[in-house]
Amino acid sequence: MTLHAPFPSGRPRRLRRDAFTRNLVREHTLSVHDLIYPVFVQEGEKRRDAVPSMPGVERLSLDLLLPVAEQCLSLGIPVMALFPVIEASRKTPAGDEAFNADGLIPRVVAGLKSRFPELGVMTDVALDPYTSHGQDGLLDETGYILNDPTVEVLVKQALVQAEVGVDIVAPSDMMDGRIGAIRGALESAGQIHTRIMAYSAKYASAFYGPFRDAVGSAANLGKSNKKVYQMDPGNSDEALREVGIDIAEGADMVMVKPGMPYLDIVRRVKDEFRVPTFAYQVSGEYAMLKAAAQNGWLDHDAVMMESLLAFKRAGADGVLTYFALDAARLLPKP
Ligand code: PBG
Repeated sequence: MTLHAPFPSGRPRRLRRDAFTRNLVREHTLSVHDLIYPVFVQEGEKRRDAVPSMPGVERLSLDLLLPVAEQCLSLGIPVMALFPVIEASRKTPAGDEAFNADGLIPRVVAGLKSRFPELGVMTDVALDPYTSHGQDGLLDETGYILNDPTVEVLVKQALVQAEVGVDIVAPSDMMDGRIGAIRGALESAGQIHTRIMAYSAKYASAFYGPFRDAVGSAANLGKSNKKVYQMDPGNSDEALREVGIDIAEGADMVMVKPGMPYLDIVRRVKDEFRVPTFAYQVSGEYAMLKAAAQNGWLDHDAVMMESLLAFKRAGADGVLTYFALDAARLLPKP
């Protein structure tokens, strides 16, 4: 009698047979606590303007943002990330409005923190919403983005934000040395609790297009790009170098951006450094999923949840996503 090896040698489908088994063996899950909700704020009262390239996203004045903050809190979303829509008349080549202590962001932060002190507030440290040319830094006469003079302005911006009570400052500019400069300035100012989430591996990506529409920097930027400071999409080792530098300079958390096309980078960063690692599912990723869903080509809720879970599987501790509210409504309450 011939003894046959059992066929097949294993049956992975046994663990997929029922919902209870799938629930039992699932390796990664998404929680509301993984979500950071990016929002666009503008001046005025009762002002609500849709962003056409980001269906469901609006630019809101502070009074209309407060109920959104309340929703985040009640759903268990830990942090809201603020992005300003600055009036064209306040934009200058040097972006001085970025460190105006009475500017839009400081007023919105103060308003949020006085109403909802327990909601985390994160702010971008970058000049592009404030510059008349839409770049994230100061330019020399040839149009090249200057590094060290830009860092000086970023430091002032971060200090203003910390002083008004921001919990997490998030430099998204990709200048060299800015994390160290900001950390040093925060320490000297006694702002020892301000967390830094560094946009460490931020690529020069075409997926930011709708965001630039939302903050009104797209027209100013015109045909120019950000390739002389944001990373080349062909690079992967360089992302580890950037993350290593930012951690050494004092970042508490690091970020990879964009998200879905860069999950390989998320995984490499997490494996290499084992620090809190975040991914930004950016405006263009949101726009593309929304557009397909609106056409009936994809199931909105299903692709939203699948895309967010994929970040967790890739090693991210959390995700910045414009879907945060929608996703949180579908997730178990904490
Ligand atoms: C600003 C900034 C950008 C984004 C976040 N912070 C745009 C850019 O670098 O041009 C993009 C976010 C998104 O696309 O959702 N420096």
